[in-house]
Amino acid sequence: MSAPLLELNALTTWYPIRSGLWSRTTGYVEALTDMNLTVHEGETVGIVGESGCGKTTLGRTIVGLEKPRAGTMSFHSKPLPGGIRPAAIQRQIQMIFQDPAAALNPRLSILDLLTEALVYHRLLNEPREQAAARLLSDVGLDADALHRYPFEFSGGQRQRINVARALALKPSLIICDEAVSALDVSVQAQVLNLLMDLKEKYNLSYLFITHDINVVRFIADRIVVMHQGRVVEEGPTESVITTPAHPYTRTLIAAVPTLGASPATPPAGGMA
Ligand SMILES: Nc1ncnc2c1ncn2[C@@H]1O[C@H](COP(=O)(O)OP(=O)(O)OP(=O)(O)O)[C@@H](O)[C@H]1O
Ligand SMILES: [Mg+2]
Repeated sequence: MSAPLLELNALTTWYPIRSGLWSRTTGYVEALTDMNLTVHEGETVGIVGESGCGKTTLGRTIVGLEKPRAGTMSFHSKPLPGGIRPAAIQRQIQMIFQDPAAALNPRLSILDLLTEALVYHRLLNEPREQAAARLLSDVGLDADALHRYPFEFSGGQRQRINVARALALKPSLIICDEAVSALDVSVQAQVLNLLMDLKEKYNLSYLFITHDINVVRFIADRIVVMHQGRVVEEGPTESVITTPAHPYTRTLIAAVPTLGASPATPPAGGMA
């Protein structure tokens, strides 16, 4: 197996519960508890689990949007600080969210949306249009999209734009949080295929968060099952699905009516 890219050791994240006139902290929600996880270079790890089990919190903690309460993270075998971190590290881990529309500022053109991070990180060494057109072509969109605005695109196209934004800083790890859940099934398949192609092209690793076992079966090399903020089972995708060891995993799989004997294949469809 290739070298570890991301390693989490006993990672624990709490959210404060605030109440009263002065929003005083009166308690904590323990969203992640003693989470251990490794993502190897070039690997796609699927995170599954019921709503509220801590999947998004895991992604947000890795990407630095939440500060862990305890535990350690390392990236490329070097310590990865929780919360705000040096820009050179920050840009190597990107996150794509569920709602393609909400993630795009409606007042910015596609050109601005695709190049704002490059400008912020001072990484532009060519005309903005050129960099943005290359990103668009990577995600299968024409360069004439550059001067248009998010509302002019379909859900699948908007998610392609979000993928292009995530690619702009040449990350090595992309966290996809329910990245295809809001799309209809044929468009879902196209975006999943796009993500697989980009993984090969740019040697990416993915942490693929989803509640959909069919999606994870199609895309992931390994599955990690979470329950109430903890890992309850992990292993190669097919073996976790065909011979789940933990009772919770069995329940999760039994709840998927479409899971037959054959591996999930993406249905054919038109252009997203
Ligand atoms: N900002 C917050 N403040 C307080 N509690 C939160 C906050 N965000 C999440 N939580 C709580 O933390 C726990 C984990 O939430 P999280 O959003 O990580 O779950 P999830 O697995 O992503 O769920 P879903 O599948 O519904 O997206 C839940 O109990 C949730 O209510
Ligand atoms: Mg979530």
